[in-house]
Amino acid sequence: MTLHDRPITRRAVVAGASVAAAAAAVGCSSGGSEPNKQAAGAPKPVAQTKPAEVLGDGVPTPKGEMIADCKDIPVGSGKITSDGLLVTQPEESKYYAFHGECPHAGCAITQIIKDKITCTCHGSEFSLTGDVEKGPARKPLRPCQVVMANEKIFKQD
Ligand code: FES
Repeated sequence: MTLHDRPITRRAVVAGASVAAAAAAVGCSSGGSEPNKQAAGAPKPVAQTKPAEVLGDGVPTPKGEMIADCKDIPVGSGKITSDGLLVTQPEESKYYAFHGECPHAGCAITQIIKDKITCTCHGSEFSLTGDVEKGPARKPLRPCQVVMANEKIFKQD
């Protein structure tokens, strides 16, 4: 029997509400394991992300795993690869890649719609360059180093 198989009793609901109220009182986010390090009014951490280095066309195939074909990454949006990496193209020919774990509590990010990367676990949203746009996440997405060559994206780390 897992935790989710257990019947929910009235006592459990009341106890859960008390814990949630206590968490809210100290500024904790619901369901998150990320420490609350950011003070109110403090600047938001910004992703230290650079676009993929462009090696060009007709060049030797770079080392590293090919993770995406540029033609599959829409300008102004992105794609989630079969390995769960997030590859985006906020502007024409500027590609970024991120590991797919949400920095809030580690859920796999499964949604990129237009220019929003969304974690459906607790609703955090990120820009196509990995910055937090909406919490509860407070840290940016973790960059994945990539290069672009011959219209393909290659993972470097
Ligand atoms: S794990 Fe909580 S918003 Fe992603």
